[in-house]
Amino acid sequence: MSKPLTGKVALVTGGSRGLGAATVRLLAEQGADVAFTYVSSEKQAQAVVDEVRGKGAKAVAFKSDQADTSQAPALIDDVVAHFGGLDILVNNAAISAAGTVDDPDADTAALDLMHATNYLGVIAIIRAASRVLRAGGRIITVSSGLGSRVGTPGAADYAATKSGVERYTMGVARDLGPRNITANVVEAGLMEGGMEKETPPETLKALLSSLSLQRMGHPDEIAAAIAFLASPAASYVTGAVLDAHGGYNA
Ligand SMILES: NC(=O)c1ccc[n+]([C@@H]2O[C@H](COP(=O)([O-])OP(=O)(O)OC[C@H]3O[C@@H](n4cnc5c(N)ncnc54)[C@H](OP(=O)(O)O)[C@@H]3O)[C@@H](O)[C@H]2O)c1
Repeated sequence: MSKPLTGKVALVTGGSRGLGAATVRLLAEQGADVAFTYVSSEKQAQAVVDEVRGKGAKAVAFKSDQADTSQAPALIDDVVAHFGGLDILVNNAAISAAGTVDDPDADTAALDLMHATNYLGVIAIIRAASRVLRAGGRIITVSSGLGSRVGTPGAADYAATKSGVERYTMGVARDLGPRNITANVVEAGLMEGGMEKETPPETLKALLSSLSLQRMGHPDEIAAAIAFLASPAASYVTGAVLDAHGGYNA
């Protein structure tokens, strides 16, 4: 495989499993030194680090709670101290909580934590990273098809967090364009082995039948879209939303 990211330093939030781990592996295969965060899966994070290092690339994991915005500046400082700079930020870490807006039994604490993690936490990391990102830098925010269309009930809060970070990323593209830093969104779709485990079976069935491709995606398929936006080939792409959700909006 060619290594278009040689000499680049990447930070992937939530790299211990799922799409984040697939993205860590792919960016490292393409030559980047990769830092990533996790919050509780220390063993899984170490396994990803070991796997990447075993292939001769560089990886490091930092425990950092995205729901606590005060941790963002120290995280970025740690990445810069470890790898000497930062070129690529992938905002992947997020959690999922569901509940219809009129449900008296909705777990509002879980919904509020999701807003803190998926929205405020992402913004705090973008703010901190934007101060150190080098020219030619990349910000890639992982959203969901629900960031632009809410196709099922019970997803208002999750969709709002994703829509919010999508708009924020567009603003970032405007702010950082003059420094030759791009900011783009990847709208991921349902993926094998991830949040779909928390999706009710009837919702999952309805969602899959609404997709053009009629199947779940593999994390590697979404990671490929992220890697494209991180690559030199995407140098003139900014403020864009790349749909990698099997045709949810087609
Ligand atoms: N899976 C899907 O079907 C799907 C569909 C559309 C969009 N997406 C989006 O794709 C992205 C990845 O989803 P996924 O299914 O791969 O997720 P996942 O398997 O649930 O993994 C989530 C990752 O985020 C980390 N994380 C969670 N809370 C955190 C916190 N407070 N601080 C720091 N890290 C935290 C987790 O760390 P720990 O391991 O330590 O908990 C883990 O590494 C998300 O942005 C999601 O919204 C997913």
